[in-house]
Amino acid sequence: MKTIIEPFKIKSVEPIRFSTREEREVVLLRGHYNLFLVPAEDVTIDLLTDSGTSAMSAAQWAGMMLGDESYAGARSFYRFEAKVRELTGFRHIIPTHQGRAAERILFSLLGGPGKIIPNNSHFDTTRANAEFSGAEAVDLPAPEGLDPELVADFKGNMDTAALGTLIAQVGAGNIPVCIMTVTNNSGGGQPVSMENIRTASAICRSHGIPFFLDACRFAENAWFIKKRERAYADVPLKAIVQEMFACADGATMSAKKDALVNMGGFLALNDDTLAMRARNLLIITEGFPTYGGLAGRDLEAIAQGLDEILDENYLHYRIRSVEYLGERLIAAGVPILRPPGGHAIYLNARKFIPHVPPEQFPGQSLVVELYRTGGIRSVEIGSVMFGRNDPGGAFVPARMELVRLAIPRRVYTQSHIDYVIEVVLECFGRRQSMKGYRIVEEPPMLRHFTAKFAPVE
Ligand SMILES: Cc1ncc(COP(=O)(O)O)c(C=O)c1O
Repeated sequence: MKTIIEPFKIKSVEPIRFSTREEREVVLLRGHYNLFLVPAEDVTIDLLTDSGTSAMSAAQWAGMMLGDESYAGARSFYRFEAKVRELTGFRHIIPTHQGRAAERILFSLLGGPGKIIPNNSHFDTTRANAEFSGAEAVDLPAPEGLDPELVADFKGNMDTAALGTLIAQVGAGNIPVCIMTVTNNSGGGQPVSMENIRTASAICRSHGIPFFLDACRFAENAWFIKKRERAYADVPLKAIVQEMFACADGATMSAKKDALVNMGGFLALNDDTLAMRARNLLIITEGFPTYGGLAGRDLEAIAQGLDEILDENYLHYRIRSVEYLGERLIAAGVPILRPPGGHAIYLNARKFIPHVPPEQFPGQSLVVELYRTGGIRSVEIGSVMFGRNDPGGAFVPARMELVRLAIPRRVYTQSHIDYVIEVVLECFGRRQSMKGYRIVEEPPMLRHFTAKFAPVE
């Protein structure tokens, strides 16, 4: 059959609230044109993030009832630990309340002033945690990842030649860890090939640099490897996942993505001493090492989700449904980052509204317009998130001005996506009338979450 259907039936539903354009205008004003400051109730289709927004399965909800809430040594921890170890092979599995908690612990131990941390592309919290430790976060995306129009199989790859050059320049002793983000979220949800993971790992290991995966979307990445890297076409998905992790010395993971849960994460690693130090830090802020900021029921749901995510019918539907949205937009001439990524479609705001200059945040303008037009919440990944002012006060734009339409897992059906397409096309039709924005208030870090905006008149 040609039609790929959602590989699940819907047992429990949540109503969507509809609003008028006038109501949304008031909501925008109250939220200072920052969609992070808008109540979810006022959103019709929420594509802000795929993180923590999955629909859990009946088996996951059943697991919640089985959760063992013992403070120490809960049965649910051992189930969680066994499942994570089966997939990753790492000796030490340390639960955390979400991905950034694992990052904070890792960088508190390995970062610090004078240290350099390379990544194919740091996610915002990863960069913030590295920099908060005093280290310098360096992005090393492969050149093809920088061209939004180019269609290539593995645009999430790391530039491994640049990694070699960086090591030669700064010295391996100043690089306490190298991270590979799979899939590459800040780079457009693009996958990383097994060949690239293997090469980066070999370079790091030859210099004694620990190599870690930022593994939030490991299953989506493995699916792309199976479909696009010829040698893996007949390799079972789980074996691909295990091979990815075997290249690494550890991983940080936000379980809110490919573990199909609403909250959770972990730090996993092989180094005994580092693991002991990580557990000591964990106890200070996250909790005892067998729950690490999570309830026993959360650990059950993660263990179950890690099983379900490797269902090939699910991954086929998942990647195809994101591609469907991308294909329709491309067919209508809407500029998007190509090819479609694993968890999201990224609109190229720089091309969508070329009359709005980067210093007037074209991505933010598009985010606001999508909400105003159809109640769709998206997120800017451009100069609001990554732009900055240099020490002289001059504006330094982000490399790309993108708007991410992230697709929550197992939440929306094809008709929801058809509605999204209609709204994007309506905005595209009257793009000439869209205006830029200016920041009227911003915090010192991660400004996109809480900054206040006003339209440029
Ligand atoms: C690539 C990547 N790394 C790390 C994180 C942080 O995870 P969390 O939101 O669970 O703290 C995210 C979250 O979106 C992510 O996409």
